[in-house]
Amino acid sequence: MKQKKQANKRSILVTSALPYANGPIHLGHLVEYIQTDIWVRFQKMREHECYYVCADDAHGTPIMLHAQKLGISPEALIAKISAEHQRDFAGFGIGFDNFYSTHSDENRELAELIYLRLKAAGHIESRVIKQAFDPEKEMFLPDRFVKGECPKCCTVDQYGDNCEACGATYAPIDLKNPVSVISGATPIEKEAEHLFFKLDHFAAMLRAWTGNEGVAVSTLQTEVTHKLKEWFTAGLQDWDISRDAPYFGFEIPGSPGKFFYVWMDAPIGYIASFKNYCDKHAVDFERFWAKDSAAEVYHFIGKDILRFHALFWPAVLEGAGFRKPTAIFAHGFLMVNGQKMSKSRGTFIKAETYLKYLNPEYLRYYFAARLNDRIDDLDLNFDDFAARVNSDLVGKVVNIASRCAGFIKKRFGGQLSAQCSEPALYQEFEAKGDEIARFYEQREYSRAIREIMALADKANQYIDEKEPWVLAKQKNRDAELQAICSMGINFFRALITYLKPVLPEMAVQSEMFLNAGELTWSSVQKPLLAHEIKKFKPLMSRVDAEQIEKMIHESKQEAAPAAKIATAATAVDDPIAPMIDYAAFSKVDLRIARIVAAEDVVGADKLLCLQLDIGGETRQVLAGIKAAYSPQDLIGKHTVVVANLAPRKMRFGVSEGMVLAAGPGGKDLWILEPHEGAMPGMRVK
Ligand code: MSP
Ligand code: ZN
Repeated sequence: MKQKKQANKRSILVTSALPYANGPIHLGHLVEYIQTDIWVRFQKMREHECYYVCADDAHGTPIMLHAQKLGISPEALIAKISAEHQRDFAGFGIGFDNFYSTHSDENRELAELIYLRLKAAGHIESRVIKQAFDPEKEMFLPDRFVKGECPKCCTVDQYGDNCEACGATYAPIDLKNPVSVISGATPIEKEAEHLFFKLDHFAAMLRAWTGNEGVAVSTLQTEVTHKLKEWFTAGLQDWDISRDAPYFGFEIPGSPGKFFYVWMDAPIGYIASFKNYCDKHAVDFERFWAKDSAAEVYHFIGKDILRFHALFWPAVLEGAGFRKPTAIFAHGFLMVNGQKMSKSRGTFIKAETYLKYLNPEYLRYYFAARLNDRIDDLDLNFDDFAARVNSDLVGKVVNIASRCAGFIKKRFGGQLSAQCSEPALYQEFEAKGDEIARFYEQREYSRAIREIMALADKANQYIDEKEPWVLAKQKNRDAELQAICSMGINFFRALITYLKPVLPEMAVQSEMFLNAGELTWSSVQKPLLAHEIKKFKPLMSRVDAEQIEKMIHESKQEAAPAAKIATAATAVDDPIAPMIDYAAFSKVDLRIARIVAAEDVVGADKLLCLQLDIGGETRQVLAGIKAAYSPQDLIGKHTVVVANLAPRKMRFGVSEGMVLAAGPGGKDLWILEPHEGAMPGMRVK
């Protein structure tokens, strides 16, 4: 039979932001992927043509350096991370139609095409700029790879773009006493030619597109429009889209040694991932991306990357002759128990760690119950999380089926009544479908959930009133018992249908139990009558608070290596050290030292000069622990020292070893203090 073409069938392409191929997926990321996945599953249930694509964001300096540290190629690193990301996403039921990589042929071709079109149309300009350069590493340094003192308020240990203490923004080269985070060297200023995208060529289009001047209907959230207004008022600056080698990315055609800045080719990765999908599944790519496309394109993003998606991206698309997104949907950040996610509190929870302890659908449900269409931050409060899942899903929804299924199975061979005994009540369940659908469509998930739970309350009330367990003990009440329980099962079926975008796994289990094929939005229109259901198996167990404790405990422990042993001389951020073999380890001469003297170093903000007794021999060590210790507090303490480190001539004198300390750095640094019995000169094994 030929499929009838649905009159209002929409063609929709949906994306989530591309996670950096530089670290694990955590619960913060999952706000976005779960939010998007719910929306996509909803559209598919409504029988629209809908594709959900994503990719790893594989380029840039941090990934290049990370791979170097591990002693592997960036390609090997991104392959490993991609596998981990896909495992974690699958674990949470994120149903991408395609998950790809920005380091792909399709993306290279598209990035080149887009760039060449922008260039031909006069939107690219080349200019010489001054930048921080690491003379030891021989590379230009991104802002975040330079640290030093704020030029305004003199707070130490600030990044090269802005000061966390006073909020000042500046160029890395303006920092006082700047150091390269990579090598510890003092960066120099160096000139280089960069390529710029002329964003202001698109000012009128952007104003119209974002609805700021009422030229076009706003396609963006109101909070987003406000933010944009600020940016317009501040003026649209040229955007620097090139980076010099060494850089992991795509070389710019016609500019040897220059690479596309990661944020240039990352959003193009949306198109590339879709292109890759289209080629594999014979979908017409042009229908979605041509300038006159009637298809809808939506980008779900976090509020931190709004500027890229609401300014640069539509301008780049416009300039290169592609269609622009239909809308951008921004969400807020995840807080845990009212605070920012924190490694030391154990609330920086990786997807992988969560999955060891808790059912992923708990989190999908909880996020859904808290999400709306705004960009407010969202709080994951674990007490609330347990209470809501237990009372709503286990206590209300699953309970309906478990109260009714047993009777149907045991007393009626699994057979539901042939008639709907409560047509009016059932009609209420069906009628609510439109409103719930509207809430999903508008990303007002919390309101959808509220409506669904109100229906669940109705179903439970009905069963409470009818007391099937009482009827079951009476004679000649079988028809009534069967009718009531059949209604219960049908109410449950409607609820699960409405919850299916949120709880795909529970929906699959329920589909097997209900034994009537796949649930789509329109399934609710017809109740199941004179139909045989299968045996009911428990669909979800209660949240166990102990599991939450364990998950947080494990997350704390995982964070401990991050408070790894830092070499106190530099105390720079270096997330991962490369693997060394035993032979390399055995070369390190670790000894107990007693700090016999400690004093400030004139002119140095971070250093203390320590005299160490390492067993009959005194060594001078310059240690970057001034923010954490006063000299007098250190005298007499025992610590661990690398005794065979080649002496290093530093700006303030020679350092003949290295003191080991733990902590993230700054004032949170603790020198390692071995137990009493350890005497100066003892070897540490
Ligand atoms: N690679 C860029 C996106 C490029 S899109 C062309 C990036 N990656 S990310 O891994 O840092 O973040 C991916 C998405 O997750 C972003 O939308 C970001 O806002 C979101 N989140 C990351 N941490 C988050 C929270 N703690 N809370 C909520 N969302 C967060 O940005
Ligand atoms: Zn400052």
